Amino acid sequence: MRYAAAFAGEAARLYDIHPAASAVSPRQDAYIRSRDFDRPTVVFDLEMLRQKYRALEAGLGDATIHYAVKANPAPEIVAAVLALGGRFDCASRGEVDLCLGLGVPAERIAFGNTIKRAADIAHAHAMGVEQFAADAEEELRKIAAHAPGARVVIRMLVEASEADWPLSRKFGCSHREALRLMDLGRFLGLDVAGISFHPGSQVREPAMWAGALDAAHALWTAAEAAGHGLRILNIGGGFPAFYGDPLPATEAYAAEVMRMVRHRFGEEVQVMAEPGRGLVAEAGVIVAEVLLVARKDQDDLARWVFLDIGKFSGLAETMDEAIRYQFETRHGDEETGPCILAGPSCDSADVLYEKRPVQLPLALDAGDKVRILCTGAYTTSYSSVGFNGFPPLDAVFVG
Ligand SMILES: Cc1ncc(COP(=O)(O)O)c(C=O)c1O
Repeated sequence: MRYAAAFAGEAARLYDIHPAASAVSPRQDAYIRSRDFDRPTVVFDLEMLRQKYRALEAGLGDATIHYAVKANPAPEIVAAVLALGGRFDCASRGEVDLCLGLGVPAERIAFGNTIKRAADIAHAHAMGVEQFAADAEEELRKIAAHAPGARVVIRMLVEASEADWPLSRKFGCSHREALRLMDLGRFLGLDVAGISFHPGSQVREPAMWAGALDAAHALWTAAEAAGHGLRILNIGGGFPAFYGDPLPATEAYAAEVMRMVRHRFGEEVQVMAEPGRGLVAEAGVIVAEVLLVARKDQDDLARWVFLDIGKFSGLAETMDEAIRYQFETRHGDEETGPCILAGPSCDSADVLYEKRPVQLPLALDAGDKVRILCTGAYTTSYSSVGFNGFPPLDAVFVG
């Protein structure tokens, strides 16, 4: 789809979209035009990240921003978020050490993964990390043993997420179990400070947060009734990026989520937000190349377009066609037709879009460069080390 086409129509105006915030920036454009790329490369604009951070910060008010490092663990990005005054949500010892190595003070790091190696809990605690998440008894006992007295937040299961990339039943526990874990945590000498949840990634509308916030509020109220003096509400990630569907402007979106939070929880609660995708996705554009355009038979209507990047080299989020990227080519407004888009590897799972084919120019052929928009999140870090010998996604930074 042409970039501008996404903004046509009434919906776009209603949602007050700011197209400039998600286009390829002049810096990225100049860089791409001045280079020959011999492998798929994400060109990341750090200034776009800074603008996004400031917009989120303005909307989130007094909530603290903990960048979810997993979305893009490039040191350049961690350093930029640190310089902006941000904090960090880490999923592993590797991420904790990455942040510490770049000068992040330990108290600005929260260890948010609910599945941690005991030795990594001990390491993070020894380095000064104070906050850990848990959603199971065994995890809580690990934390009590290896980070005695640490601050813990109990992660609540989010049922029926409306997100494009739901985090399913893998994370969190039931209301009843959360209350039991709070009692146990207190018994084990931990500082049971609050609750966390994740509404699922890519929550396109603020209204979609209501169910999770209601459930979190019910848990909060029950916990207080059980004598837990909670003070931290971690609302996770979920802040969306522009993939073609209309979105509210970032600041307005974040402000509306905070209005919904404050309406339920009042002004005293300390709110943590952990944006990953919403902070970094729009700042990245991948430059890829068409390797082959083919039909299985000359009469076949289906056109296959094979790129030099696929599911194993950076586009893992095309799984189930959940995240739908937008593409730009040198053919601009020329006539387009549907195609099945696939990666280069010798694995039949490496098909990006087939159920809902992609419209690409009919003139497209091997050697054409393709820009894949809004690919600054969950791309480089999902890229294999070299499946089939294809190089992992490269990254360069401008701005
Ligand atoms: C605990 C936690 N926080 C934050 C995030 C970031 O979510 P998003 O990319 O939707 O902002 C994730 C993503 O998986 C997560 O697991």
